[in-house]
Amino acid sequence: MTETRRRLAQELGVVAGFDDPKAPLEQYHTPPDLAAHIVHLADLQDDVEGRTVLDLGAGTGMLTLGAALRGPARAVGVEIDPAPLATARRNERRVGARADIEWIRADATDAPLCPPSREDVTVLMNPPFGAQRGNEHADRAFLATAARLAGVSYSVHNEGSREFVEAFAADEGGEVTHAFSAELDLPRQFDFHEADAEVIDVEVYRIAWG
Ligand SMILES: C[S@@+](CC[C@H](N)C(=O)[O-])C[C@H]1O[C@@H](n2cnc3c(N)ncnc32)[C@H](O)[C@@H]1O
Repeated sequence: MTETRRRLAQELGVVAGFDDPKAPLEQYHTPPDLAAHIVHLADLQDDVEGRTVLDLGAGTGMLTLGAALRGPARAVGVEIDPAPLATARRNERRVGARADIEWIRADATDAPLCPPSREDVTVLMNPPFGAQRGNEHADRAFLATAARLAGVSYSVHNEGSREFVEAFAADEGGEVTHAFSAELDLPRQFDFHEADAEVIDVEVYRIAWG
């Protein structure tokens, strides 16, 4: 891991997660290491500095705040549930990023967002997967929103999503340019988790939208 990425993960270590996570909304927060990996990759691709960064399903703000530490023109976290947004505001003060940050309570897949030209917008997101609840590809509406609003997006999906993500991107005239796998350590927080902690395999995709 590079020093810059390690430092970013450390800075994000103060971001608090969900106080009272709601299973139907798949509320678990992205670990700082994974958030730092995503933001660092985006930074290396010139997808953060000077751009508008939208975090769809922002939760307590991990990805918004990660981006905010890398000099965006503006970072916007969109979240449907007001409770984690209150935590996100506190997290903003803890992280101390100087960027222009906005928190919007809305359905991210139907939000009244009027960002500048798509070319200047990057979406970062860890959307609900829907996999555990028989609602396969709940992430589809989030990808469709990224395609509509952004020139490029980074998104976390459950294992085995490559074919779906590539086909979706191609249908929208886009292309997967980078992909990597990661593990998510989920604490026991929902009743359907039997172990104290669960590790799930995820995949992260960078899509350049056409
Ligand atoms: C897996 S969590 C990720 C949270 C945060 N982005 C992070 O990386 O730590 C998914 C988040 O999406 C939110 N969410 C689910 N459906 C949503 C919707 N339609 N619009 C906005 N947010 C939504 C959930 O409340 C939850 O906070």
